[in-house]
Amino acid sequence: MARADTAYVCQSCGTVHSKWQGRCDGCGSWNTLVEEARAGPTSAAPGARAKTGKLAFHDLGGAAEAPPRLSTGIAEFDRVCGGGVVRGSALLVGGDPGIGKSTLLLQAAAGAARSGVKAAYVSGEESAAQIQDRARRLGLADAPVRLASETRLEAVLEGLKAEKPDLVVIDSIQTLWTDTLTAAPGSVGQVRACAHELTRFAKTRDAAIVLVGHVTKDGQIAGPRVVEHMVDAVLQFEGERGHEFRILRGLKNRFGATHEIGVFEMSDGGLREVANPSALFLDARGRRSSGTAVFAGVEGARPILIEIQALCAPAAYGTPRRAVVGWDSSRLAMVLAVLEQRCGLGFAGRDIYLNVAGGLRITEPAADLAVAAALASAIFDVAPPEDSVAFGEIALTGDVRAVNRAEARLGEAAKLGFSRALAPAGGPGGGGVAVTPIATVADLIAQFDPGGSEAGA
Ligand code: TYD
Ligand code: MG
Repeated sequence: MARADTAYVCQSCGTVHSKWQGRCDGCGSWNTLVEEARAGPTSAAPGARAKTGKLAFHDLGGAAEAPPRLSTGIAEFDRVCGGGVVRGSALLVGGDPGIGKSTLLLQAAAGAARSGVKAAYVSGEESAAQIQDRARRLGLADAPVRLASETRLEAVLEGLKAEKPDLVVIDSIQTLWTDTLTAAPGSVGQVRACAHELTRFAKTRDAAIVLVGHVTKDGQIAGPRVVEHMVDAVLQFEGERGHEFRILRGLKNRFGATHEIGVFEMSDGGLREVANPSALFLDARGRRSSGTAVFAGVEGARPILIEIQALCAPAAYGTPRRAVVGWDSSRLAMVLAVLEQRCGLGFAGRDIYLNVAGGLRITEPAADLAVAAALASAIFDVAPPEDSVAFGEIALTGDVRAVNRAEARLGEAAKLGFSRALAPAGGPGGGGVAVTPIATVADLIAQFDPGGSEAGA
């Protein structure tokens, strides 16, 4: 039963109902009603607005002041935020359960507190004793972080108003509930109302709020997507269960560049920053076997070398399998089609497996050439040119296009001891790395099949 001061609002058309029902009377959609507090003068509900006050206009060319930032003492974390957490902003950190969000944010809060920032950590998931135990294991017990275990939003806000912290971690937004709504914690209405109040707290009190959010099976930050719109930045903490490294990826940032990544390693002593991520994603072996290629990629501002592995096996029966880990499967289909059409390689009747080593996910089209190199290397069973990296975008015509930041890619390759690069023709040469210009996919295939035997054709 709804309270007198709440209503059920259709999320698709906005029709207000006094009680919950499966289907909206307004638009006929199913399961779109969500309990919301009715906006009123005394209600602190989302949507409640002050009735007085004039609209103030400003010029576009205001004072060029950088937003005030707080450092967490974790360089990788600060970098993904754009140089530290911004005061008066809200940040959402999403990730699968058990990936290490609580560990990371406890370390961040402790790092900030040690450098004099007033930090508070509010957990709705664990008791104070559990967090103290973790802090001891991580060697953070001495950091002056104010710790609380609470799930009721009103109590959290009251406590924060009294404590006046500069940095607040809320772990997690799904465990909070406000007593203005009857819905269960974690439901759309609750998560939205709590996130709204907390972002408002951040703005009015000039504090930085970090919200932890769980990720659902389909990869969305659980509860409403709308939280992503409310906050100023969204970071995703990801990694493969079997691997010890974790990646903090910026998905949205109103105060900095997105697509920045921070790399960490999960150890007994908590999360450790990885200063040289390329070493992590490359197999240590000097000589590479057939079916591999090293992609000179760029993630955010940083160049990074990543090994790409391909395997072509005869398909036993039926439609051949195309299994991809860490890359886009439709992009793989495109590269395969170009290699078949332009170079006559025969992938039909073969299962193809493509894997990005270390569990990283690549989204750059610049990886096309490295993927094609790994595929060609696999199908000819010839190792790629010794100590070589590859990068370049493949067009449907078979041309290899130039990509951005070629110098940075070559520089990273040189730094890690690579001496050759298969790169788009007409690009820059790189200090210490000999560039083999690849104008079309045919040039690439010539690296693996000088005689032009057209394997598998
Ligand atoms: P946690 O931070 O609780 O994850 P989340 O908050 O995202 O659910 O991390 C839990 C995992 O991290 C758990 O499987 C144990 C591991 N872990 C370590 O390997 N080393 C450590 O020092 C800590 C604290 C946790
Ligand atoms: Mg946790």
